[in-house]
Amino acid sequence: MNYKKLQQEDIAMFETLLEPARVLLDDETRNAYGHDETEDLVHPPEVVLKPINTAEVSAILKYCNTQCIPVTPIGGRTGLSGGALCVYGGVGLSMEKMNHLVEIDELNLQVTVQPAVITQVLQETVAAKGLYYPPDPSSRGSCSIGGNLAENAGGPRAVKYGVTKDFVLNLEVVMANGDVIKTGANTLKNSTGYNLTQLMVGSEGTLGVITQAVLKLVPLPKHNLLMLVPFYDAAKACEAVSAIFRAGIIPSALEFMERDAIDWVLRFVDDVHVPVEPSIQAHLLIEVDGNHVDALMADCEVISNVVQEYGCGEILFADDEAQKNQLWKLRRKVAEAVKSNSVYKEEDTVVPRYQLPMLLKGVKEIGARFGFQSVCYGHAGDGNLHINIIRGELTETQWNDELPVAIREIFKLCVQLGGTLSGEHGIGLVQRDYMDIAFGAAELSLMRQIKDVMDPHQILNPGKIIPDLNF
Ligand code: LAC
Ligand code: ZN
Repeated sequence: MNYKKLQQEDIAMFETLLEPARVLLDDETRNAYGHDETEDLVHPPEVVLKPINTAEVSAILKYCNTQCIPVTPIGGRTGLSGGALCVYGGVGLSMEKMNHLVEIDELNLQVTVQPAVITQVLQETVAAKGLYYPPDPSSRGSCSIGGNLAENAGGPRAVKYGVTKDFVLNLEVVMANGDVIKTGANTLKNSTGYNLTQLMVGSEGTLGVITQAVLKLVPLPKHNLLMLVPFYDAAKACEAVSAIFRAGIIPSALEFMERDAIDWVLRFVDDVHVPVEPSIQAHLLIEVDGNHVDALMADCEVISNVVQEYGCGEILFADDEAQKNQLWKLRRKVAEAVKSNSVYKEEDTVVPRYQLPMLLKGVKEIGARFGFQSVCYGHAGDGNLHINIIRGELTETQWNDELPVAIREIFKLCVQLGGTLSGEHGIGLVQRDYMDIAFGAAELSLMRQIKDVMDPHQILNPGKIIPDLNF
């Protein structure tokens, strides 16, 4: 694809479409918007534009579409698959000014938001009204709803409540040619035509730019209980996961952390204190929520009985909010702690939950064969295992040439086990070349055709998701 490099005339045009103060060209800004949280990758845009409303987004896209200028939507820049990286330069379309929480509809349990509303801000605002928006990525303090929609983000509560896609009712989207569409209706049920809403969710800014979303809420559960269960054997911890569901319990979170994950976090943060015996190899962090404490206590008893059968140590029940926050911090800080220790690559594998022990075993076996250390953790209840591959002492050849072969093996294993490449981080840039493992030629061709219909000039977030699309 031959994209136009930005000329003075394009900048002049952007300065008529937006206030000039929201057209940013300096190196510092471009570099800041040139990375997210994906490895150490930096791909700056040629210009950063900060629209304040749908009409501005539409005008920008309409112009870029006629000029063949790439446009990459940018949210909170917390992504882990390189979805917001401007790999072909062009416009970095930062949605940050569109951060209004438009309306909370308490009668219908819905909320209307602009894309740059921070996930945690949304959660806290609706919680004050007794309502709950459950999808909660670890980055919820800085990620935005637009980014969550683009990547179909999940997080720990997905296991009971679902991921971002399960909370979306209706989207306003600006198409590549500047058309503004509504994808659905503000209803819980909708059997009206093709499901454009779900086509947009998870499309990583390659099909359109989301400018407003109507999201579903649920009543805020009144209570939760949290327990940290240590295991002597990591495989056994993974085996316990599906047994908990088979015992009739759906926890509101069921997280797995390998020993190394805990050790690295304990070194990284100084205000979390959890005693871990040397013989412990993994932990499950398990939460149940609901409106009746007695029922939750009974659930915890069932869970305790199940985990005992898989060789666990002494279970820690969080006594109060402060301790719950500590335990959640232990879990939510893993990615940051690993990043602070070493260059790493993060894979977001997912398999049906009963297959989780096989996945963990396979990853360790592949690691032993290729000589890399991995730190594994994640949303075990969803079969969603984050694998952080540590650069450590690996040579350039091992890291650049051999590791992609190893990652290919990991993804093949996922697919053999009935799983796929990404549970919640998206494909973006860094997983794109593995898509052939998850899909055959027919499926990839269909995806390309959908892309061609919706973005014929390939201006929207080029270089993402679909391998070799016109490049
Ligand atoms: C987490 C992010 C990395 O689960 O998805 O912490
Ligand atoms: Zn995660």
